[in-house]
Amino acid sequence: MANILIVNGPNLNLLGSREPGLYGSQTLSDIEEKLAVIAHARGHDIAFFQSNAEHEIVDRIHLAYQQLVAFIVLNPAAFTHTSIAIRDALLATRIPFIEVHLSNPHAREPFRRTSYFSDIARGVILGLGGLGYELALMAAMQMINESKPA
Ligand code: DQA
Repeated sequence: MANILIVNGPNLNLLGSREPGLYGSQTLSDIEEKLAVIAHARGHDIAFFQSNAEHEIVDRIHLAYQQLVAFIVLNPAAFTHTSIAIRDALLATRIPFIEVHLSNPHAREPFRRTSYFSDIARGVILGLGGLGYELALMAAMQMINESKPA
C-alpha cells in the first residue's frame, strides 16, 4: 500500500464548464472519483488537491514529503509555464511525479510549449483529456510496485 497524491493547478476547479472543446466535459470531481476507484482497487491510498495559488501547491508538496507520499500525478495548469517555485519543491522533496495535461500544449500558443516540469518528470502525458490522469495513475502504481524490494 502506498500514498499517492493528485495535484491540480489553477482553473482546473472549473473543468466541465471551462472551454469544454479543449478540456472536455468531465468535472474535476468526475475525474477524481474514477482515480479513487482505480487506486483503491489496487490497495493504495489516494488524496486530491487543487489550488489556484502557487504557494499552496508548494506547501502541499512539502506536506506530501512529511506524509511519505510515494508518487504525485501533477497537472500544474498555467504554472507549468511559469513556476520555478513548484519545480523546486519537487526537486527538494524528490517525490517522483508524472506531469499530465488534458490538452496538448504543443498544439496551442507558443508560450505553452515551455514546461518547467517535463525534464524532471518520470513521464509526461499530453492531450488525452481525463484519460491521461488514469494512465498516469496506472503508470505510477506500476513504478511503485517495481521499486519495492522483492
Ligand atoms: C493545461 C494546459 C495549460 O497550458 C493551461 O494553462 C491549463 C491546462 C492542460 O491540462 O491542458 O490550465 O495544463
